[in-house]
Amino acid sequence: MGMHEYDETTDDLAWAVFRYALNRIRMDPPLDGPLTVEQLRDAVGQTITRDGLGGDEALAVFADHLAPACISADHPRYLAFVPGAPSEAAALFDLVVGASSFCGTSWLDASGAVYAENQALRWISDLAGMPAEAGGCFVSGGTMGNLSALVAARDQAGRRSGRPQRWAVVVADSAHSSVASAAGVMDVDVLEAGTDDRRRLRGAAVSEAIEGRSAGTEVFAVVATAGTTNLGVVDALDEVGEAAAAAGAWFHVDGAYGCAALAAPSVRDLFDGIERADSLVVDPHKWLFAPFDCAALIYRDPAVARAAHTQHAGYLDPINERGEWNPSDYAQMLTRRARGLPFWFSLAVHGTEAYTEAVETTLEVARRGADLIEAAPHLDLIMVPTLSVLAFRRIGWSAGEYAAWSEQLMAEGTALVMPTSVDGEPALRLCIVNPRTTVDDLAVVLDTLS
Ligand SMILES: Cc1ncc(COP(=O)(O)O)c(C=O)c1O
Repeated sequence: MGMHEYDETTDDLAWAVFRYALNRIRMDPPLDGPLTVEQLRDAVGQTITRDGLGGDEALAVFADHLAPACISADHPRYLAFVPGAPSEAAALFDLVVGASSFCGTSWLDASGAVYAENQALRWISDLAGMPAEAGGCFVSGGTMGNLSALVAARDQAGRRSGRPQRWAVVVADSAHSSVASAAGVMDVDVLEAGTDDRRRLRGAAVSEAIEGRSAGTEVFAVVATAGTTNLGVVDALDEVGEAAAAAGAWFHVDGAYGCAALAAPSVRDLFDGIERADSLVVDPHKWLFAPFDCAALIYRDPAVARAAHTQHAGYLDPINERGEWNPSDYAQMLTRRARGLPFWFSLAVHGTEAYTEAVETTLEVARRGADLIEAAPHLDLIMVPTLSVLAFRRIGWSAGEYAAWSEQLMAEGTALVMPTSVDGEPALRLCIVNPRTTVDDLAVVLDTLS
């Protein structure tokens, strides 16, 4: 089979690859699990050779050995971290994006793709109540979204008031680790604000943190989380937004996990105040049924983000001078997969109501899972779930027992559940974003704890 040549052998390989991909999309995925380097080396050895393995063999190596060493995040009992659950339409369309060689950097390169992506971003903006001129781009994940938003925030603050001795961002200790990581990359300080008895960041705590800053430090942004990773808590967005505005600071909402629930009427009021956000991140690859990697980053005033992120060079001037909507102007990136397209396609196919129903389904499963935990005498629910994270303890268990149980569950192929810690004590956490996860799936996991 020649490279850059579509001959009969290529055609055979095409159908073999399609069959594999289609089968994966329509099957009940196995959970699978990691192997060691030694095990993988024993199984497949050296896969890159001088003359190539040929299509059949390379595909067999992947299908028989490499894929089973990768966990399926869409398995209904993958309940660790934040799972993924792409719709069939979204997963299928990912094949099209790969086949199409669109460079999603600029309008010039991929106007049709960017137009469609922008409609998907608009749906999220409307759910959040952002103004008509709001917009942004799709980036690889919440981490890159948070970093890019904070870079825009600091750039704006610097243009307004020059450079202080130190920049700082106010954030609760419940914020995702990527916010501290972004602060590290940007060399800015993190001012930690406490949370209330419902574990929410409140306006007063933000104001207190800002007032307590040291001389020479300027707070350029406040980050609230709309759905904390560990517990699914939505900060008091209205108050936090108000406190940020009072201090002249940018208000960023990290809804990488939780903002999918903007589509769910049963919890929409938790997000009141999100319309104040200067920037907002939500990951469709988490709870909006898109394949990895797809995060939506939206700015209230995209011009501010453009000022911070547009790259300038002789070879880019022709693009910049056109004055069109270039996704690369809104984040720390240039070349870009049009990674919002699978999400757009699924939205276009199914309509937004299907998203509302799917998110509500997962919320209801989480509520019924909480009932199961509360009814079990050996389990202790840490808090009634706000969104779709269940955190609880197996009474009497040590960190070692949680770890051994988690390993065994994974090794058996039953479920992926990882221990976490809450208030410094070990705990378990189930995150439900997959509409195929049923109450029975949760019962299967909980039963193994008795
Ligand atoms: C609230 C929150 N923010 C940011 C992130 C980071 O997102 P990503 O893993 O897509 O970079 C996560 C991931 O779980 C998250 O839950």
